[in-house]
Amino acid sequence: MLSLLFVSAAAFALASPLPASFSDNQIDLVKARLAESASHSWEIGTRATALLELEGPSLFVYSQGSTPPPKIYASTGGDVFKIVDDVLAKRAAGNCLPFFCDGSAGDPASIGIPDLIRNWTHPSPTSNSSSSTAAIDQLHYLIDIVPRLPDGAISHRSPPQPVQLWSDFLSMAPPFIAYYGALHNNKSLLLEAYNQIKTYRYHLTVDDDSGLLQHIVLGKSGSDPGHWATGNGWAASGMLRVLRIIQSSAFAEDLLDEQADIISWASSLLNTVWQYQQPDGSLLNYIDLSPRNTFPDASGTALLAASTFRLATILPGSVDTGAAERARKWIGANIDKDGWLTNVVNPLNWHKPGSHSPEGQAFVLMLAAAYRDFSLV
Ligand SMILES: *[C@@H]1O[C@H](CO)[C@@H](O)[C@H](O)[C@H]1NC(C)=O
Ligand SMILES: *[C@@H]1O[C@H](CO)[C@@H](O)[C@H](O)[C@H]1NC(C)=O
Ligand SMILES: *[C@@H]1O[C@H](CO)[C@@H](O)[C@H](O)[C@H]1NC(C)=O
Repeated sequence: MLSLLFVSAAAFALASPLPASFSDNQIDLVKARLAESASHSWEIGTRATALLELEGPSLFVYSQGSTPPPKIYASTGGDVFKIVDDVLAKRAAGNCLPFFCDGSAGDPASIGIPDLIRNWTHPSPTSNSSSSTAAIDQLHYLIDIVPRLPDGAISHRSPPQPVQLWSDFLSMAPPFIAYYGALHNNKSLLLEAYNQIKTYRYHLTVDDDSGLLQHIVLGKSGSDPGHWATGNGWAASGMLRVLRIIQSSAFAEDLLDEQADIISWASSLLNTVWQYQQPDGSLLNYIDLSPRNTFPDASGTALLAASTFRLATILPGSVDTGAAERARKWIGANIDKDGWLTNVVNPLNWHKPGSHSPEGQAFVLMLAAAYRDFSLV
């Protein structure tokens, strides 16, 4: 059942038109609005990730031969490395172990894979480059310093805040931990990433038989037991990157049970999500609430559709791409003439509609890239 279908390493977005997805002009505008608006740690990391998926797919974890990344992008540079270098320059001016010091333990690690790709594709590699030391420090921070639960789940919040688990964490930290492990042939880090998914999934579904993940549990305040669409998207997206990293590591054959678990968790989550799809193709901001008590959210819908096309590319038939296709069309109709995704949740106040969402802009690019790669198989 574990089919190892890879995206062709030759599939460069810049060289091939997007198949009947969004127009090139729309994508350019969405990208420009994303560049203008991304400012928080997770937005910057998610922007760099989306650009890798769209414009540097042969470097990114979904392509065959991408771990370690081929040394082809270094000479061409590109926005991704500029983003990483900006983060490293600001980090050098501060005094903290993670890539950013913003009170979140998980979010700063979202720039971890782009940073490691930056480091590994450097034309004149040194083990003490700022990209390398920053990754070492970020890993050390997550593994050794951030508080955990007894089962190993690492808090999404920085100390001294008490342990709190957010579904968001699964997109931010486990892919970085897994990728670091794959690059350094470190099986215990791959297992650590897997265990984060396993334990988070346990805590975010305990006493909840909906099949959906809660948003925020534990901690002193600010828990959110609702099934936030974007949070479920963060989780699915993180699971699939970890899956692909395990599959492309030296330990792929040793970790078949772990791969089967992640596939089963991601496919059952996504198949449950689409049962709540609205007639227009949207998902609601809190997926299973009555439409009277919440609103359609294009941000979460885009990330969940992107994740669905990704899983369908890795394991054809495991998810309902018809639902993702209806969602993709709805997303297309919600991009305005300036390239803003509309009908989005406020990313800083997740119970309220917002006007613009930097992460939502990135999710559109991820959806375009995932749909392109799905269409190539
Ligand atoms: C990295 O190592 C080289 C060679 O040992 C040294 O010249 C350089 O100053 C080091 N750079 C940093 C940033 O520590
Ligand atoms: C960064 O790249 C150098 C050179 O390829 C490598 O020795 C080092 O281990 C890398 N750092 C990390 C954290 O992967
Ligand atoms: C793997 O990474 C962990 C965490 O950084 C480290 O403690 C361990 O020594 C590494 N194992 C190997 C075999 O390199």
